[in-house]
This record gives sequence, structure tokens and C-alpha cells, in this order.
Amino acid sequence: MTTDVAYAICRMSDIPSQQARGFQLMIVGDDGAKRPWPILVVRWGRQVFGYVNRCPHDGVNLDWERNQFMDPNGIRLMCGKHGSLFELGTGICVDGPCKGRGLTPVALTVLDDDICVTGVTLVEDGEALPDDEA
Ligand code: FES
Repeated sequence: MTTDVAYAICRMSDIPSQQARGFQLMIVGDDGAKRPWPILVVRWGRQVFGYVNRCPHDGVNLDWERNQFMDPNGIRLMCGKHGSLFELGTGICVDGPCKGRGLTPVALTVLDDDICVTGVTLVEDGEALPDDEA
């Protein structure tokens, strides 16, 4: 189910540049069923990139330590389980067990200073809390 609604999940200033942060959202599927939808948002200057927080290798969340998404060099996303490395801008795995596969992109838009999720229907009950405040 796609909609034109933009769901604000945080402010740009909530994520330092060159850092990523996880969010536990709830999505409404085409069948109307609600299910948890964990995503991560990377910020690089004024650019933001969103992906579903699910490693294509084993289906787990990438941040084995909460909100630790970056590799030690701080230039790629890394899965904490077996170390797959993903390009920030494309989500493609460039090294590790799922090399050549990719993270599922999440459409984002920035309105004023709010980072918003678009193209999906979310359950809006209260504010989307960042992982570390949920
Ligand atoms: S689960 Fe992510 S690299 Fe294996």
C-alpha cells in the first residue's frame, strides 16, 4: 500500500552527520495487517538514506550493539553478526557473506528539518521513538 503521507520520525539534528540511528516503526501491509518495521537512517551532511534494519544474509538486525551501524572506518554500514559491509548510498553489500545483495531501501524525504518516511502506511500511535528511548 503506497500513500503520499510523509511520516516525520526525527529531526535532522537528532542524527549527527556520518552516523546512523535505528527506529522501531509499525507498518500496515497491503492486507491491512500491522507488523513491526525496524529501519535505520544514515545521515551524511544534508543527505539521508533509509534501509530496513535487516541483514540480507541471516535476516537479523544490523546493530548488535544498539545504534552501532557503522563499520570501524565510519564509511559503510556493517552487520554486527558476521561483518557484512554495505555502501551507505545504495545499501549494496560490498564485502561479507551476502556480497552482491542489498539492504531494502526505505524512501525518505526531508521537510523543513524533519526526516520523514514516505511511500508506506505506518501505524501512528504516538511518536516514533528512537531505539534508545523506546
Ligand atoms: S547476518 Fe549479517 S552478515 Fe550474517
